[in-house]
Amino acid sequence: MTVTLGTPLTPTATRAVLLGSGELGKEVAIELARLGVEVIAVDRYPHAPAMSVAHRAHVVDMLDPVALRAVIDAERPHLVIPEIEAIATQVLAEVEESGLSTVIPTARATILTMDREGIRRLAAEELGLPTSPYRFVDTRDDFAAAVAELGTPCVVKPVMSSSGKGQSVVRTPAYIDAAWTYAVEGGRAGGSRVIVEGFVDFDYEITLLTVRHAGGVTFLPPVGHTQVDGDYRESWQPQEMSESALAESRRIAGAVTEALGGRGVFGVELFVAGDRVLFSEVSPRPHDTGLVTLVSQDLSEFALHARAILGLPVPGVLSLGAAASCAVLAEGSGVPVFAGVDDAVAEPGTDVRLFGKPRVEGRRRVAVTLARGEDVAQAREKARASASALRIELA
Ligand SMILES: Nc1ncnc2c1ncn2[C@@H]1O[C@H](COP(=O)(O)OP(=O)(O)O)[C@@H](O)[C@H]1O
Ligand SMILES: [Mg+2]
Repeated sequence: MTVTLGTPLTPTATRAVLLGSGELGKEVAIELARLGVEVIAVDRYPHAPAMSVAHRAHVVDMLDPVALRAVIDAERPHLVIPEIEAIATQVLAEVEESGLSTVIPTARATILTMDREGIRRLAAEELGLPTSPYRFVDTRDDFAAAVAELGTPCVVKPVMSSSGKGQSVVRTPAYIDAAWTYAVEGGRAGGSRVIVEGFVDFDYEITLLTVRHAGGVTFLPPVGHTQVDGDYRESWQPQEMSESALAESRRIAGAVTEALGGRGVFGVELFVAGDRVLFSEVSPRPHDTGLVTLVSQDLSEFALHARAILGLPVPGVLSLGAAASCAVLAEGSGVPVFAGVDDAVAEPGTDVRLFGKPRVEGRRRVAVTLARGEDVAQAREKARASASALRIELA
């Protein structure tokens, strides 16, 4: 099949609507723009990162089905590309059903991954993949019963949340009430449904970036990462693994991504203990820990996402060696200003991405540093040094 791409802002254009315009969407927008795709960025606040590199932007509440449908009807995009989970996904199902646009990777995948329950039940109960033991509960009493059943320590998360919001570890039964309140207040949709998971004492955790494309499935070298408060701080590639743990990781990632279907990049999160691998969750889109691929590969996860969703081949990915990323957080209130950018990129093989987020309220990731090194340890060291060279003031 021939793939034909038009010219933006003309009737021949290939149009893509990004639902969510954060730092990951910004990189996807850049990669699409490189191929002459007309990019329309959508988010709930103005001047979101991807909006600065898109042809047009719309500010709407993407959880509002009427507002979301109005944008899609006005733009008539060939591709609808979700970047976040908090979307009125029934609209995506309608749009896909009517043949108006292709939803990336599929409307069903966005529905199954919009809360923790759909994807966990698919992976564990339908596909029979290994996961932590878990219970879903809606009330304080059922919650206490689930903690008693699973034992402590256990991990509590609202079914609708991301970046560690509302997530905590119950280490002793005395913490049950605090964990319950924290989870219910941290959930996105205002409901009180939470997942309680047995705590997994893993050796390390990885994201196995998996690309579903016209020519089949490509697994990228595993990305290792550290998380603090449920939010990623450092990632590196490749994570050293045993042959059998890597094979099992690929088996799990292959199964879960095949069940979700469609084309694009998926970030499959896995916990590894010895040769044992547990499925944790999956993003049906590029993953934040995969920012490291901006310097570790000839085609980053964003370039691969663009290629895959446009129906282009992914014949192979060239690894550029060991690399690392370090998230840069700002805390407080105001407009970020970055001092020391010169020092942050002074070392050969280092780079930064300043996201251009218009404002910080509370704690927010505002930049990432990237580094290549002789090995992962050196790359991590360089990425951390680059991050500490950046001084963020909130104006
Ligand atoms: N059952 C668990 N046992 C041990 N650590 C966990 C467990 N679940 C989550 N974590 C830790 O918390 C991080 C964030 O959890 P995750 O389920 O990925 O939430 P989010 O959707 O916010 O990324 C994980 O990457 C891992 O480090
Ligand atoms: Mg996660």
